[in-house]
Amino acid sequence: MTIDFATFGESHGKVVGVIIEGLPAGLEISTEDLDAELSRRQSGYGRGARMTVEKDTAEIVSGVRWGKTIGSPVCVLVKNRDWENNRRLLSVDKKSADAALKILRPRPGHADLAGLLKYRFDDITDVLERSSARETASRVVAGAFFKKYLALAGIAIYSWVEEIGGVKADIPPLAAAKVFAAAKSSPVSSPDVAASAKMAAAIDVARKTGDTLGGVFAVAAVGSPVGLGSYVSWKERLDARLAAALMSVQAIKGVEIGAGFQAASLPGSKVHDEIFYSKSVGYTRKTNNAGGLEGGTTNGQDIKIRCAMKPIPSLAKPLASVDISTKKPSSAAPVRSDVCAVPAAAVVGEAMTAYVLAVAVRDKFGGDSVAEFTENFKASADKKK
Ligand SMILES: Cc1cc2nc3c(=O)[nH]c(=O)nc-3n(C[C@H](O)[C@H](O)[C@H](O)COP(=O)(O)O)c2cc1C
Repeated sequence: MTIDFATFGESHGKVVGVIIEGLPAGLEISTEDLDAELSRRQSGYGRGARMTVEKDTAEIVSGVRWGKTIGSPVCVLVKNRDWENNRRLLSVDKKSADAALKILRPRPGHADLAGLLKYRFDDITDVLERSSARETASRVVAGAFFKKYLALAGIAIYSWVEEIGGVKADIPPLAAAKVFAAAKSSPVSSPDVAASAKMAAAIDVARKTGDTLGGVFAVAAVGSPVGLGSYVSWKERLDARLAAALMSVQAIKGVEIGAGFQAASLPGSKVHDEIFYSKSVGYTRKTNNAGGLEGGTTNGQDIKIRCAMKPIPSLAKPLASVDISTKKPSSAAPVRSDVCAVPAAAVVGEAMTAYVLAVAVRDKFGGDSVAEFTENFKASADKKK
């Protein structure tokens, strides 16, 4: 069985949540583990008022018993605390329909217009309630499970913010765990103190002018064994799977592995990571421009990914749009919104990276239980000696 997950729920509905299948039995997990990840997703300078309305907490309703997974589908709910104020808007009851509640002015950059035309709706609420990044709360819950699973294979995942609104951080040439630790105290999750202050100031300016900002975050997976993914089929290539998973995060418009776009302008002699060997360590490299992936397969180096996030599409000073009922020019609907969500998106990026690696780890080492997985993993590591 492979690992898979599906999210469900609308932004202002009763709950959002996730169903995860394929986790081995015996994986230790607690509600606190999930809440810690949810809290990271809610933090970061630039978030909107909603983050203070909702302190997300997870409720595990199946698949876990006495602190461990039991191999059955895991279902987790995250209650939307704003539900009480939106009972009518999101009611399942036909009698609650109210034309006055309809949203009629699509926001450029959102799924509003494309979704409206695709599903033949006459109310943008039917689109935005699901296209909203509130859905990422479910992904982050799933990510907490995947991270626990990956830890059994010695894999840890980190993220930090490299750029917001054109302000670039200097990233220290340190191990990923240290860069992550340095970013922890920053209000924008960036390891560069001076750049963090400038990023926060840029967010303040955007808030004042009714604008929004995007940026760049990095995700690193450390400790990956050699041989996750494969070059034998395009579907197995792990770089492609990672790119797809990260690109599926709302507002992510670019994904780079290793040197990425920079590699395109350099000669091969400056890009490819030369191979060395020592008896004590085995194969080594002095550089990691490949970002831990060659031929779609992990090569044992850190997996390094960077993601570009576009600016948030709901502007306090709304952009030009059209009223879908009159077809007359109008400004886009004002929707309560973040000014910048790059630090939060980085946490979602970790979750999606963890998912792709969890699938690859399960494919390679199998195991219906944690005990069996650990035996398989250890046997594979022993063979390499
Ligand atoms: C963590 C996170 C938070 C977001 N918060 C908002 C928000 O408050 N307001 C908004 O308009 N868009 C927000 N977005 C972005 C939109 O969800 C996204 O741009 C939109 O769904 C359209 O999808 P696309 O940008 O991938 O085309 C957020 C994205 C992420 C990852």
